[in-house]
This record gives sequence, structure tokens and C-alpha cells, in this order.
Amino acid sequence: MVDSWVNLAERLGSDLHLELAGSGGRRSTLIRALREAVRDGRLAPGTRLPPYRSLAADLGLARNTVAEAYSELVAEGWLVARQGSGTQVAPRTGPTRFPHVPEKPAHAAPPTHNLRQGQPDAASFPRAAWLAAARRALNAAPNEAFGPGDPRGRHELRRALAEYLTRARGVRTTPERIVVCSGFAHALRLLFGGRVLRGPLAVESYGLAFHRAILEEASVRTVPLPLDERGALTDELASLKGVRAALLTPAHQFPTGGPLHPQRRVSAVDWARTRDGLILEDDYDGEFRYDREPVGAVQGLDPERVVYIGSLSKSLSPALRLGWLVLPEHLVTSVLTAKGQREAWASVVDQLTLAEFIDSGHYDRHIRRMRQHYRTRRDRLVAALAANAPHIAPTGIAAGLHAVLRLPSGTEDSAVTAAARQSIALDGLAAFRHPAATMPAHDGLVVGYATPSDHGYGPALEALCRILPPAPSPAD
Ligand SMILES: Cc1ncc(COP(=O)(O)O)c(C=O)c1O
Repeated sequence: MVDSWVNLAERLGSDLHLELAGSGGRRSTLIRALREAVRDGRLAPGTRLPPYRSLAADLGLARNTVAEAYSELVAEGWLVARQGSGTQVAPRTGPTRFPHVPEKPAHAAPPTHNLRQGQPDAASFPRAAWLAAARRALNAAPNEAFGPGDPRGRHELRRALAEYLTRARGVRTTPERIVVCSGFAHALRLLFGGRVLRGPLAVESYGLAFHRAILEEASVRTVPLPLDERGALTDELASLKGVRAALLTPAHQFPTGGPLHPQRRVSAVDWARTRDGLILEDDYDGEFRYDREPVGAVQGLDPERVVYIGSLSKSLSPALRLGWLVLPEHLVTSVLTAKGQREAWASVVDQLTLAEFIDSGHYDRHIRRMRQHYRTRRDRLVAALAANAPHIAPTGIAAGLHAVLRLPSGTEDSAVTAAARQSIALDGLAAFRHPAATMPAHDGLVVGYATPSDHGYGPALEALCRILPPAPSPAD
């Protein structure tokens, strides 16, 4: 028997492989293979089979063998032969091997009001401009772009990023110092999972538990650094034993919201210089500052002591999974080694599209438009609180896509529970606190204002104001 598979794609208009391997005569092997293809749904009901002469020629079988196989399958009810329209798969052919199981939804039912921090406004994704950039980028791309990718990332993108980050974020770099990755989480995995850096690592006392989990997975011990309204207490870095790297969110402390004070920026870099250490700068939403110019990157103070990490997750969409590391020169090779020989994460097509999106000015335009949009959202939140809950102070509101509502001590848990009961998705500050943090805990709600739709935002704010704890009575 022919020991191979046969591709009937051309004849059937869709891809079909027939396994003709195995013992038995030619006729019975062909019957078995066709029956299997019908049974498991690869040959759908109504599909027209090629005339037996052509199939015989394709398979190198005698015409009789194929004709007999067709007849037998017709007799068994798998196929039907119709005058003038050849042989087809019968309309209904017994149970398929893989019964249809409706896909389970990936998430529980969505909340009525989504005020959870973390995402930009999905409805504002610039679909038309992104598509147009993709078309231009693909037209201009050389053929080699469609081969295996360079782990550094496309040079077009690294050049565009170097220019943009220098101009807009005060980063000092050249394209050679940039390595493209698939977002901040991937950068952390490369640096620590890839053993470019080792722990222990100083982190802010409040931050994303998800990022701490990535570090834990890489066996990196994290040491919490206290925070106040001026950001992380970087002067305390010197007292942390064995720590030679610190992960900070200097433009907009996540989630409490303030920028790192200029003196603390300097003291962090000084500490890194004297300790032969590093600052990891998470610049996750640095472009979104409303009441004055964005705060520049700490990296600009010393490019050899700061690993700058950026991402599209807040500025465009977390679905793109694109980010970048701007590295001190001595780390470039080891990060590339951790990444592997070929680009295995970031789509080259998306990289080229982003390069074109930046070069054509659309990225800047999008940022300016979204800054205005989020500023309006923030102003509405502040106004709603002033009108309905003037005793609740919104903080961290000068930048970003979320605010922290400071609550009277001891009321956070009940506010989070009340929110859940009203189907409002949000988190309390406790969800972000490092388990080993020693600084005093503050009660508060972290409220994201980017996610609700335009028509849903007003009702979301009303619902939020209803679950906030009442003003303490004068006797309290
Ligand atoms: C604190 C913080 N850092 C970084 C990021 C970006 O993460 P990623 O690029 O992995 O989506 C986010 C979320 O967007 C964030 O909240």
C-alpha cells in the first residue's frame, strides 16, 4: 500500500490529509482513511470528492480500487452518489469523534462597572491609523523582514524608539542599546528568569502582585522600600543588605500615584553608582501627565546605571504585547543571550507597524488625544467626588489612568465588599501591598478611569460614590 498521506487540497478547495499508511489491502486502507476523514469532520457533510479517476491517478492506485472504495462507502451511508454531481459526503454521517463542546468563557461575567485599573480605553484604539501604518510598513518592508527575526528587534523600530524616547521621555540612548520585547512582564522574565540580574531586588512597598510573582518564580527575593508622598524612600537603599538593584516607577508610582521627587531620583542613581548597582525604571504610563509636562526618565541621569523599560500596554493596547528595554551597554549582550538566537516573542509585522506609526507622527497624535481624553475622565471623577463625597480625597491624580481614593482608616475592606456587591470592579490598596512591607498601611481604593465606555462612565461614577464610606461624624 502507498505509505504516505495525500493532500486533496486542490480538489476540495480546503486542506485534507488522508493517512494511507498501515496494513491491509489498498482498497480497505483507502476506505478506512476516507471513513476516518468523514467521521472526524475533516470531510464535512456535502463535500464533493474528486472523480475516482483523478483520485486514483493522485494516489497511484487502480481506478477500480478507488471506484470500489467509493461504492462501499456509499453502501455504508458515508457517501452519496448523485447523478450529475458526483460523489459527496453524506449529509449526516453518525457521531463525530469530537462532539461540539461550547467554549467556556475565559472570564466570569463582566462587571456592570469596570473601574479596575490596568487598561487603557479599548474603544480608542486607533484602528484606522494602525491599519494604514501596517499597510505602509508591509509595502516598504524588504523581503528579509519576513524571515527569522533578530532578537534585538527590527532596526526600523529601534531607530524610531531611540528618537521618540530621547525627544519625549528624556531617555539617552542609541538604537544599539534597545532590545525589543513583548512588554514589561517579558522584560522582567528576561532580566531575572534569564539570569542577567540576580536578587535580592528592592521594590516599592506598593506595586503589582503579578510582577512580584514573576520575580518569585525566578527565585528573586524582593525587599520592600517604604513610600511617602514623594515616592520611594531611595535614601534607604543604602541600608538594604545585599541589594544591588531596585525596581521603581519614578514617573508615576504604581499604584499610589506620585512622581519620584527629584532629590530621590538623584539619590537612587548615586546609590546605584556607589554600589555598582542598577535602577530598573518601569515607565509604564509616563506619557500621561495632565497638569504639567511629563516627568522625564531617571535613565537620562545615568544611562549606564538605569535599565529603562517601556511598553505599549497603557499608551496603545496591552493586546499588542510590545515593549522595549533601553540597556546599559554592558547588559546588551547578556539580555540578547537570554532572549535567544531568533525573535520568538514580538511579531516583526507589529514592530514594523509601530516604527511606521511613530515615524509618521501618529503615535504622538494618539498620545495627545488620549491625554486629553483621560484628563477629562479624571476631571469628572474629581468633580463627582467633590459633589458626592467631599470627605474622600482623590490622590495621584496628576498623571496616569487611575486615581487612589484615600479612605478613613479601617473602611477599605467594607468599601471593596460593597463595590463587589454592586458589580463594580476595583481594588483596594491592600491588594498591591508587599507582604513584607513595614510602612504604615493606608486605606484606599484604586480607581481606573480609562476602561468604561463613554456612556458607561457617568453611571460608573454614580455607583462608585454610592459605595464610599460616609463622612465620619464629628464625634469620631
Ligand atoms: C506598574 C505596571 N508596569 C508595567 C505595566 C505594563 O506591563 P506589560 O507591558 O507587561 O503589559 C503595567 C500595566 O500595563 C503596569 O501596571
